[in-house]
Amino acid sequence: MDTDSPGGSRKFLLAASILSADFASLGAEVSDVLASGADWIHFDVMDNHYAPNLTVGPMVCEAVRPYAGAAWIDAHLMAEPVDALVSSFARAGARMITFHPEASRHVDRTLTLIREEGCLAGLALNPATPLSWLDHVLDRLDMVLLMSVNPGFGGQSFLPFLLPKIAAARALLDAYASVSGRRVLLEVDGGVKAENIAAVAEAGADVFVAGSAIFGARATADAHHYDSVVARLRAALLAVK
Ligand code: DX5
Ligand code: ZN
Repeated sequence: MDTDSPGGSRKFLLAASILSADFASLGAEVSDVLASGADWIHFDVMDNHYAPNLTVGPMVCEAVRPYAGAAWIDAHLMAEPVDALVSSFARAGARMITFHPEASRHVDRTLTLIREEGCLAGLALNPATPLSWLDHVLDRLDMVLLMSVNPGFGGQSFLPFLLPKIAAARALLDAYASVSGRRVLLEVDGGVKAENIAAVAEAGADVFVAGSAIFGARATADAHHYDSVVARLRAALLAVK
């Protein structure tokens, strides 16, 4: 990982998914949630083809980029084909670009392309997609994203059968770190809330995507207060060794 990576020891990062934000004031939502203590902006890209929903593209990423300051934009591409979008999102200011292996004809080529564009590369695995997709690509990966819901919508419930999969991914990434000296981040995405974030951390996640849990706490239509919900998520993580 490069020098602005989250460091060598295990640290928990909160990635706020703007899927549940107020799209009519997206810039303010991004700066408000970061001011409340979120670490990354998780940017869910769906194409009504790979994923059964249609969301936002690189133009919106570029538009919100100035509101994110130094925080990373964590682009989660649920779109097919993916390669042309990689360059667009790199130009639009994404730092981490993650895609689904089923959405790329040539997974290794897409991973290489992400790094050539100067970004960090992530691979996203759906609930039923096996960890064996990671077998030959760990050297080209900076993050593994495990979906704990099926792609498409915010506000779905965390699938509990993902906990053992998170633990298995953690073991695999720890074994890889011990031979390579490289840490690959493990992000969990979908249905993460104050009630289950500690269990997700105990299973081995480093990065926690939270959309509806954070933006659902919007106080009123014109005031975005996320301090207390972000503090609740952090407090739950504090209890984790
Ligand atoms: C689902 C998206 C997720 C998800 C997060 O396809 O990738 O980022 O919507 O939202 P919550 O936290 O509401 O599950
Ligand atoms: Zn996502």
